[in-house]
Amino acid sequence: MRVFKDPQEMHAYAQKMKHRAKTIGLVPTMGYLHEGHLSLVEAAKKKADIVVVSIFVNPTQFRPEEDFSRYPRDLKRDKNLLGQFDINALFLPEASKLYPNGFKTYVEVESLSKKMCGHSRPTHFRGVATIITKLFNLVLPDFAFFGDKDYQQRLIIEQLTKDLNFPTRIISLPTVREFDGLAMSSRNQHLSDKDRANATILQRALLLGKEEIASGERNPHKILLRMRSLIGTIPAIRLDYVTIADPETLEEVKAVKGKVIIALAAQVGKARLIDNLVINAG
Ligand code: PAF
Repeated sequence: MRVFKDPQEMHAYAQKMKHRAKTIGLVPTMGYLHEGHLSLVEAAKKKADIVVVSIFVNPTQFRPEEDFSRYPRDLKRDKNLLGQFDINALFLPEASKLYPNGFKTYVEVESLSKKMCGHSRPTHFRGVATIITKLFNLVLPDFAFFGDKDYQQRLIIEQLTKDLNFPTRIISLPTVREFDGLAMSSRNQHLSDKDRANATILQRALLLGKEEIASGERNPHKILLRMRSLIGTIPAIRLDYVTIADPETLEEVKAVKGKVIIALAAQVGKARLIDNLVINAG
């Protein structure tokens, strides 16, 4: 496995692989890898000739009061976990190389970035879109792999890929869950035992929403009320939002029909957690 820290060296390697007519699969991550990330690496191995994993805790997607400095990091552990996959390259750029003094250009995907998590994290997706654009320019991926847990992020990346004419196919894989349903996230690391137990209510609330729809409820307000009261049984959880929305536009729906996404975000102890389910209501 080659390790690149310098963006220009990463780019030169990617160009060399392209000249050899190899396809490149990119798995962008912020490290502290879990089974969810590893499922993306596994899929990339099956799909592309060359697999590049990037690990970079991207400062521009965090606001000053958010958890950039506390975000879990353990490169040795990540390298060990990646060892089993025989990937071709690990890209570990330094922030000063990607965002040198005088950096001024950001990529903004309109509308989608303002919905759902965009309300409480207004600059988050601008940071994500900017780093993904940079990674795509440097790594030249034919395929890029993302998990469904970050549904809004994936939609935004699909939009930017189309709008900026990247020849990259975005491949999404199902959310990987713990034995009790909690969506895997590097941030779960920050949960105390009590918070970890409390956090399972988030997926239970989504499943309650799904059951309500399955039993014929079509009024999103009634479904959301029931979901909110279930989460409200654990006062320690601070719900940021729960919404039932159109899975393409992320606009809240007035009546549940066809495909919808039920999505939520909540602060559980020190961790901000997100989860979602896409449901076909028929
Ligand atoms: O989902 C993540 O880990 C990050 O948002 C990403 C896509 C690697 C961009 O920094």
